[in-house]
Parts: sequence; structure tokens; C-alpha cells
Amino acid sequence: MFFRERATQAEYFDCPTRSPDDVALAFAELARINRIFRFAAPFQRLIPDSLGLERCRSLNILDLGAGDGSLGQTLAKWANQRGWRWQVTNLDTNPLALRLGRQTGNVAASAAALPFVDRSFDVVIANQMTHHFFTDDDVCRHFREAWRVANELLLLCDLHRSIALYCVLGAVLHLLRFSREIRQDGLLSIRRGWRVREWRRLAARAGIPNPRVSLYFGARIFLQARRRAEVRLKALSQAEIVKAEAFAPFVPAG
Ligand SMILES: C[S@@+](CC[C@H](N)C(=O)[O-])C[C@H]1O[C@@H](n2cnc3c(N)ncnc32)[C@H](O)[C@@H]1O
Repeated sequence: MFFRERATQAEYFDCPTRSPDDVALAFAELARINRIFRFAAPFQRLIPDSLGLERCRSLNILDLGAGDGSLGQTLAKWANQRGWRWQVTNLDTNPLALRLGRQTGNVAASAAALPFVDRSFDVVIANQMTHHFFTDDDVCRHFREAWRVANELLLLCDLHRSIALYCVLGAVLHLLRFSREIRQDGLLSIRRGWRVREWRRLAARAGIPNPRVSLYFGARIFLQARRRAEVRLKALSQAEIVKAEAFAPFVPAG
């Protein structure tokens, strides 16, 4: 039945032979859609909610499937307005997309095989990227890798495979006269999107402990996972542990 299963057709965004001009045009149109649907808003709410305001003062963030890096740029600017410093590394398989942004420190690689050591980033995010994977095995690899390099918080977002969202987006893209390619890609990406139970199953298979999968206004799906404090302690260096123990209150035995 329609929408029961994920679609498996490729999008224009998946085509490796697009010209630089076509890629630039596609990302300009995507930026317009992202602005209409306020793509950064859930990250601006969920990161401080999850980590606390104090911890948000300085964060090292990895954005998977970042494209032109506009999400990271928007988040860094927003954080800066609050006196916070969020440094974002953009990772994407498409170097043409990465080159569109003005940011430095971009990494051309796959989200299923991350070239970073364990727990390299405070926060790992992704937006509208996971649906580009075709098989469950690839999604599991991507989830596992994202969790491996996250030291505190994993926050993955994608499109909810919903008929309501399909109709709303179809109307918006039509009324605002988006190009045929972006209309096709936009609607196809919803058909390649996700249901909550699918992400719960895949996150469990990827070994992510206590994942929280939820919908955001019925349109987006979020996977959140937070490392517990005691687990994080293991990531401290021996010197830091000694320092932490020195400050621990003394409790007499017996
Ligand atoms: C629809 S765009 C989303 C871009 C950006 N995250 C946003 O929200 O505007 C999907 C991006 O994922 C990238 N992508 C697809 N498969 C990928 C993979 N295996 N690893 C990393 N990036 C990937 C594409 O090159 C593209 O830039």
C-alpha cells in the first residue's frame, strides 16, 4: 500500500554526476524550503533542553550529510547571539555541496564510515540525510557510527513518512513554483522517510542504548540519545578522574 513501505527510487540529490551549477541550484532551492519550514528550530530547542544552558556555552558539533553547511551556519550564528560558541564540522559525501558553504573544516566522507576517533564531538546531528540510505544495514552502520563519535548527545532528524506532510509539501512546492526536480525530490524524500517504529528497531539494532524516537509536529522524526554521566566519566583522562575524586566528599566507611 502507498506509504506503508519506504520508496527505493533515487533522488536527483543522489546523482553523482550533477554539474556544479545544478548542485548549487538544488541547494539554493533546498535553503528556501528549509527557511519556510524553520529547519533549525527543533535543534535550537532540543540541544539546550537536553544538555542544559550552562553546557551550551561551548560545543563541538558534527553535522552529518550537511550539504552546503547551512544548518551548522544557522546554529552557530544563533548560538553566537546568546554568547555561546558552537563550532560545527560539516560532513558530506558530496564535495561540490560542501564547497558551496563558506565554512572551513569540511570533511568529505560517508556518514556510514566516519573518519573520526570515538567520542570526538560533544553533539552529533543530521538533518534530512538518513533517508538517502537504501538498506537497513546501511542505516544501522550510520546510526552506530554517529553514536560512536558522539560524546554527549546524538540528535538525528529526518522526514516522517506521512500522507499529511506529503500533501502539505506538495502544495507549498507547487504554489511557490519550485523547479520540477526539487518538487520531485521533496515528495520522494517523504516517501523515503521514516516511521517511529522503524527508527526504534534500527536504533536498537545499532546498539544505541535508550534511544528516544519521537515526532516533531508530525512532520519530522527525531532520534535522541544521551550518554549517561557515569558512562561519560570513562571518557575522562586518568588525571581528570584523580582531580574529580579529590573533590568528592569524604564518606567514612562503616
Ligand atoms: C537533502 S540534503 C540535506 C542537506 C542538509 N542536511 C539540510 O538539511 O539542508 C541530503 C544531503 O545528504 C548527503 N548524503 C547522502 N548520503 C550521504 C552519506 N552516506 N554520507 C554523508 N552524506 C550523505 C547528500 O550529499 C546531501 O548533501
